Amino acid sequence: MKFGVIGAGQMGGGIAQVAAQSGFDVIVQDVKDEFLSRGRATIEKSLGKLHEKGRLTETPAEVLGRIQFTTELADFADCDIVVEAIVENEAIKAQLFRQLGEIVKPEGILASNTSSIPITSLATASGRPERFIGMHFMNPVPLMQLVEVIRGYSTSDETAQKVTEAARAMGKTPVECNDFPGFVSNRILMPMLNEAIQCVMEGVAEPEAIDQIMKLGMNHPMGPLTLADFIGLDTCLAIMEVLHAGLGDDKYRPSPLLRKMVQAGLLGRKSGRGFYSY
Ligand code: CAA
Ligand code: NAD
Repeated sequence: MKFGVIGAGQMGGGIAQVAAQSGFDVIVQDVKDEFLSRGRATIEKSLGKLHEKGRLTETPAEVLGRIQFTTELADFADCDIVVEAIVENEAIKAQLFRQLGEIVKPEGILASNTSSIPITSLATASGRPERFIGMHFMNPVPLMQLVEVIRGYSTSDETAQKVTEAARAMGKTPVECNDFPGFVSNRILMPMLNEAIQCVMEGVAEPEAIDQIMKLGMNHPMGPLTLADFIGLDTCLAIMEVLHAGLGDDKYRPSPLLRKMVQAGLLGRKSGRGFYSY
């Protein structure tokens, strides 16, 4: 199995890592060498931790040896499955899938790790809607069990089956749903995070108190503001915009504070500052 990943950010790096851990030959693309180096370093650190804890029988070097890093999309021609994990922007993803549809061998499956963007629309851009699907991993990929598998309008049974098998081979539990804005995961999760941000804006409580109330009171592993910072506030805003536009209901309106923080460059953990400093 040759497994392609586009984007070496927090999700792309994690997906490449678990694919390599499961024995696939992996290739990862990003637009600049420095992003590839950063992604590689993150993978190495994660593999090191898993190895230390005895959760990885191979050495990190052996797993890393199955991952090739490139800036060239042309290197993806012989991939069996390619998962895209670039910025949550429909126009940019569609442009990438138009290119991949030309490059990847005709029987190859194209998948998106999008959090919310319509799979059917990206499938159309790819020119191979039967062999297109949503393969939505959760953050942090090496630790989270779920892969949300989203069928577009034309996704074939064979494609869904192959992607489900690949997810299982990667040690994950695939769960299928249909193509609606935000699917199931973010339709339910993101309005909660948005509401927590709205609570900060309205002065209902300090961020630390909001997070503690949800952690201790609801047994959530992370408070909603810690989780929003962890996901990336730019990604959270993009998801809320898709829910708002796609479902047409003002209950999905992004919090103005979320919008302002993204405008100010406060993206959470990845920029060093969000609701907390890192
Ligand atoms: N690779 C390897 N090890 C990792 C890791 C990674 N990527 N990330 C964390 N770890 C390690 C930690 O370093 C820690 O190791 P030590 O014990 O040696 O310090 C260990 O895993 C456990 O971590 P913690 O003790 O700090 O915390 P925890 O027990 O609470 O588990 C967690 C961490 C699993 C991330 C947990 O906090 C959690 O489940 N948080 C919620 C995550 C979540 O909701 N994810 C979904 C986000 S939404 C999404 O993904 C969809 C979308 O489209 C936006
Ligand atoms: P990120 O900002 O950490 O990484 C995105 C990477 O994509 C960057 O390295 C960037 O250089 C690269 N990139 C951007 N445009 C590109 C292009 N045209 N070609 C190649 N590479 C390009 O973002 P992330 O958090 O990894 O999110 C990636 C995708 O995964 C988004 O669609 C997001 O909605 C989704 N997602 C995110 C999470 C999360 O918790 N962050 C969880 C599940 C799904």
